[in-house]
Amino acid sequence: MPHPEADSASVVTVADPITEIAYAKVNLALHVRRRRDDGFHELESLFVFAEDGDRLSGFATDDGMIALSVDGPFGAGLGNGAGNLVSEAAIKLQAFLGERRGAKLHLFKSLPVASGIGGGSADAAAALRLLVRLWDASVDQIVLERLALELGSDVPACLRSVTQRVTGRGEGLEACAIEGLSERPMLLVNPGVAVPTGPVFAVWDRKDRGALVAERFDELVEMGRNDLENPAIALAPVISDVLARLRSQAGVRLARMSGSGATCFALFDDAAQRDAATTNIRAAHPDWWTMATRIKG
Ligand code: C5P
Repeated sequence: MPHPEADSASVVTVADPITEIAYAKVNLALHVRRRRDDGFHELESLFVFAEDGDRLSGFATDDGMIALSVDGPFGAGLGNGAGNLVSEAAIKLQAFLGERRGAKLHLFKSLPVASGIGGGSADAAAALRLLVRLWDASVDQIVLERLALELGSDVPACLRSVTQRVTGRGEGLEACAIEGLSERPMLLVNPGVAVPTGPVFAVWDRKDRGALVAERFDELVEMGRNDLENPAIALAPVISDVLARLRSQAGVRLARMSGSGATCFALFDDAAQRDAATTNIRAAHPDWWTMATRIKG
């Protein structure tokens, strides 16, 4: 007859790691309306998410400690202690819940750091989602979004990781559907320069160029803008080379910078055109980072 402990050993499967994907965030349009008294800016933005991103996996532990290991193409140089938004998110949620358990987490970092596609924000949001599952916590979505906002302006939107209009500093979230976005082929290109968000906003010329009004894809293309494009180009001129290179590819419907840069995106009607553009850009600029993906539905 098997020893009772042999049975409990087979129950170790409860500690099998579970995974959340930290989907890359892309601002299809980002209108900056005004600078607020608290130093943040009022935005109107259309957020979409790529189908790919970083991967955060982990399991709950009994020791109360938050342990994080990091690897992947952009793992080096990203600390795993204070300052890493995954650790910050975990500690914040643990304190809020009064949770006595800890977690052992592993981040596989595929997205470039400080690159305008969420990176740290998506990782922080993935950490919140993962830990709610690992600790089987019941947290109101509104409360979770408030914790998320304390971690960064883009973290609440990244929690949902769906196509949405985002207003305010990043706390006004409204899921929306624009025909032709879901599953649309997308290419992301980053020229390898890290652009910190704060300094880009600081260079913005404080001119309000108007609201974001885009109900349809053609309106998004014609009337949407990224008001941080010129400020970011002033700090990292290579961004204009990325945009020119993307816009010269066959089949590009829209090419723009995401967030505060330096990553730019191009949208295509079909995947073959996206793949051809990816091949061209990799050949011309082997040092640039590229990701051929689709808009998450
Ligand atoms: O909130 P987050 O940590 O991502 O913001 C980084 C910096 O970007 C802020 O300190 C601020 O300078 C700038 N920012 C802003 N307005 C926003 C979001 C960010 O000015 N809506």
